[in-house]
Amino acid sequence: GKDAVILAVESSCDETSASLVRNGREVLSNIISSQISVHKKFGGVVPEVASRKHIENISQVIDLALDEAGLKLDDIDGIAVTYGPGLVGALLIGLTTAKALAYARKLPLIGVNHIEGHIYANFIQHKELEPPFVCLVASGGHSHIVNVRSYGKYEIMGMTRDDAAGEAFDKIARALGLGYPGGPLVDKIAREGNPHAIDFPRAYLEEGSYDFSFSGLKSAVLNFLNSLSMKGSSPDIPDVAASFQQAVVDVLSDKLIAAAEEKKSPYAVLAGGVAANSKLREELSNKGLEKGIKVLYPDPILCTDNAAMIGSAGYYKLLRGEISEMNLNAVPNLTL
Ligand code: KG4
Ligand code: ZN
Repeated sequence: GKDAVILAVESSCDETSASLVRNGREVLSNIISSQISVHKKFGGVVPEVASRKHIENISQVIDLALDEAGLKLDDIDGIAVTYGPGLVGALLIGLTTAKALAYARKLPLIGVNHIEGHIYANFIQHKELEPPFVCLVASGGHSHIVNVRSYGKYEIMGMTRDDAAGEAFDKIARALGLGYPGGPLVDKIAREGNPHAIDFPRAYLEEGSYDFSFSGLKSAVLNFLNSLSMKGSSPDIPDVAASFQQAVVDVLSDKLIAAAEEKKSPYAVLAGGVAANSKLREELSNKGLEKGIKVLYPDPILCTDNAAMIGSAGYYKLLRGEISEMNLNAVPNLTL
């Protein structure tokens, strides 16, 4: 059929992003305006500050995305936008902007689930990838193992019972005084440490479960740090970071491989901010090689929040005729 170009908007957390995506897989532009420098001094994302930054920047981000793609609004076939999960005030900025454009231009509005979007980053990266496959979506807000049966059909095999994997990285980084966001900083400093220095707990839960729990690990690391400081000694930060990271990576990679084996999936796929973790990529690739399962993940820029992944998911929704009503609302706790 005819080419379809989607303008996608993402504003669920602390990145304001707009992208133009052709036929679901070809990224014509992907502008990401990060608010990290703004939130850093607070040690985490401040929701109201995030909303205010989104509303300041969103029009310019969309203009830049159109410019970089060499396109005009006349060339667009649909507008995809994240409507959840995420911070309500942040979501509303992207949603209102997308609605205004869709209304004025009489274009289809396509509400996209942010978690679904993360999975679709892999369709952009790997042109040959088609469902079914098993995917781990691990980010700051969620950790799911998903059986992607087809475009739009997802079976959740497991999810976290407490903290998300990225949230654990962020909390441990804060305790180690590394700063925000924690994941990339732990990843970097862990390269200088011994991953077997400290034997932190790994929560595999019940036999055959694909759920996660990171709160016990988090407490164990915090207790370890506290007991050292009571003795007046200071931790070897690279060793703690490396040992913590190894505990997370062991569980994530073992469960994803087991889920892929159960579903006889030829692929074990990573998505979400934590998919950028170098140790997770390495460990999973090794385990995949042993089992004959192909391990796939997107480039780091497509792992963390971006609008291109929303444009990909939006394209496939448009193909299925899943157009949103103009009364579409933000859903902060939207599930897959
Ligand atoms: O997908 P994302 O950008 O936003 C959410 O949807 O939450 O993920 C952000 C999360 C943060 O918790 C961040 O610390 C984590 O992904 N992250 C990483 C790495 N890069 C980002 N965690 C571990 N290693 C990394 N290299
Ligand atoms: Zn995300």
